[in-house]
Amino acid sequence: MLKDDILRELEQNRGKAISGQEMADKFNVSRNAIWKAINSLKNSGYNIESHRTLGYYIPNDSDVISEEGIRNFLPEELKDINIITYDILDSTNNEAKRLLANDENVAPCLIISDGQTNGRGRGKKSFLSEKGKGIYMSFVFSKEFSQDKSELITIFAAVAVKRVIERYIKDEVGLKWVNDIFYKGKKVAGILTEAISDLESKTISTVIVGIGINIKKFDVPEELKDVIGFLNIDEVPRIKISSEIVEELYKIFNDNDVEKIKKEYFLRLIDPEKSRV
Ligand code: BTN
Repeated sequence: MLKDDILRELEQNRGKAISGQEMADKFNVSRNAIWKAINSLKNSGYNIESHRTLGYYIPNDSDVISEEGIRNFLPEELKDINIITYDILDSTNNEAKRLLANDENVAPCLIISDGQTNGRGRGKKSFLSEKGKGIYMSFVFSKEFSQDKSELITIFAAVAVKRVIERYIKDEVGLKWVNDIFYKGKKVAGILTEAISDLESKTISTVIVGIGINIKKFDVPEELKDVIGFLNIDEVPRIKISSEIVEELYKIFNDNDVEKIKKEYFLRLIDPEKSRV
């Protein structure tokens, strides 16, 4: 589809203007078709700027969540995964389950939403998911895990998130058993791992790793002000951070180097007595 082609072209050249004529030649359509497609993309919320003489571009700091944008930041071996983006959703983990119910071959798949109306945490807790302010994503993939090792999945995921967050805040975060990430004494991220398991063989076959991160500041109820924190990463697009987390998850789960990841996890664990591995 022309709009997807244009988005891919602009994402691959983020920050650099491309003329309507160049894209018209490349995609074998008229300049008018390009202009119409760009207007339609802008109307659907994409941040596309135009320069009078140089053409169209996506500003480097644009923070719109788009499939093409995420794909662009992914490494070659992950470029073909399913990526589904939403403006608003109840919960990306719920959506992952709905998708799996309709198509058991949907994995590997990344579901990401700009906001959630019913973000879920562990133990029926909720996860505040203000639109445009955080990363709310679920990565669904096939992986054989013994059911009694299911906590390892969350540990692997926590290390992936920790690595990427620390890259940008240039500081250390703390991990609270088993799925919470803390910074400066407040919770800034959480992980909700869910799995499709086979009761007979007691193995997990498909994993849903739901990740929520408070990237930018938003208003929270008074009683949560001392509990919920923000990373205040304003200059890095959320799609870049999300793609890097997917890349780390992929590396960690593929390597399956349990001892190495546990060591990395325990180095940041806030209250080691509470751990159960
Ligand atoms: C927790 O705080 O216990 C875990 C929070 C996990 C939140 C993420 S946001 C994306 C995904 N969808 C959900 O409904 N929950 C997870």
